[in-house]
Amino acid sequence: MTEQAMTEQTSRQVAVITGAGSGIGAALCARAAERGMTVVAADIDPERLEAMAAPLTAAGAEVLTAAVDVTDADAVDRLAGTVYDRFGHVSLLVNNAGVESLGRLWQISPAEWRRAMAVNVDGIFHGVRSFVPRMGADPRPSRVVNTTSVGGIGTLAGMGLYGVGKHAAQQLTETLYLECAADFPQVAVSVFCPAHVRSRIFDDVPQKAYNTEAAAHWQGQLREKGMDAAEAARIFFDRIDAGRFWILTHPHVFERIAGGRARLLAERLRPDGEPDR
Ligand SMILES: NC(=O)c1ccc[n+]([C@@H]2O[C@H](COP(=O)([O-])OP(=O)(O)OC[C@H]3O[C@@H](n4cnc5c(N)ncnc54)[C@H](O)[C@@H]3O)[C@@H](O)[C@H]2O)c1
Repeated sequence: MTEQAMTEQTSRQVAVITGAGSGIGAALCARAAERGMTVVAADIDPERLEAMAAPLTAAGAEVLTAAVDVTDADAVDRLAGTVYDRFGHVSLLVNNAGVESLGRLWQISPAEWRRAMAVNVDGIFHGVRSFVPRMGADPRPSRVVNTTSVGGIGTLAGMGLYGVGKHAAQQLTETLYLECAADFPQVAVSVFCPAHVRSRIFDDVPQKAYNTEAAAHWQGQLREKGMDAAEAARIFFDRIDAGRFWILTHPHVFERIAGGRARLLAERLRPDGEPDR
């Protein structure tokens, strides 16, 4: 290997993105590849991964695909080990894999509860525990971004399981920010909080038996009003280039929901926003 190639090899930025086979994760991979980053794309679905990666690889990008279930702590740890053995560095980790779940709280089976919490909360935790100590041991700057949702700011009837997981993910990310600032100042932390982005997230909701209507409603909302995932990825990289904590696809939607929540807590309103009298 020439000296220049070695420099190139060591200086090349590496992005690890979970939930990379579809929607937002796929768009983040495309954008990262466009920026010349080496992309490690992880998803539970190998077919989605290959379909996503093929055009990027054909265009000359370096994209490694890894069929990884983020709910499996050991699998995520093996991924981190493989990435560090091969590249010795991760510049950007995006814990993005997530699943939707619809239904009244009492309609949700224990198995469905575990499924969604395992992806939306445990999945991020597994990424943090396997990658952050390695990123912290590396003096080079890096960044962890966790994908949450405006569902992690407000409260919506019929989306309780998703909301509980996303509120947890938001809290986890804020804690991670404080802990990295204290122990690993070279590891920056951001939260990616999308609102409506076109993806297949509602197509993958499993409980369609009693949620057909709700799933169809939300699918329609995303199709009609959803932002293109490529635009969400553009915003994502603009914000991390600017070194920001908050990455929002729809700041106005976020402000409305966050404002409502702040009022609910500060004025001790009822969950329906009415005075508690
Ligand atoms: N689309 C939106 O409007 C929206 C809004 C707010 C938040 N989000 C969040 O954005 C993230 C990406 O969602 P999306 O909308 O692109 O959905 P998507 O369904 O299109 O993509 C999610 C990907 O995650 C993968 N995945 C699911 N379970 C996994 C697991 N256990 N391990 C690894 N991969 C797994 C799926 O195979 C899929 O490829 C999620 O965290 C979601 O909650 C999306």
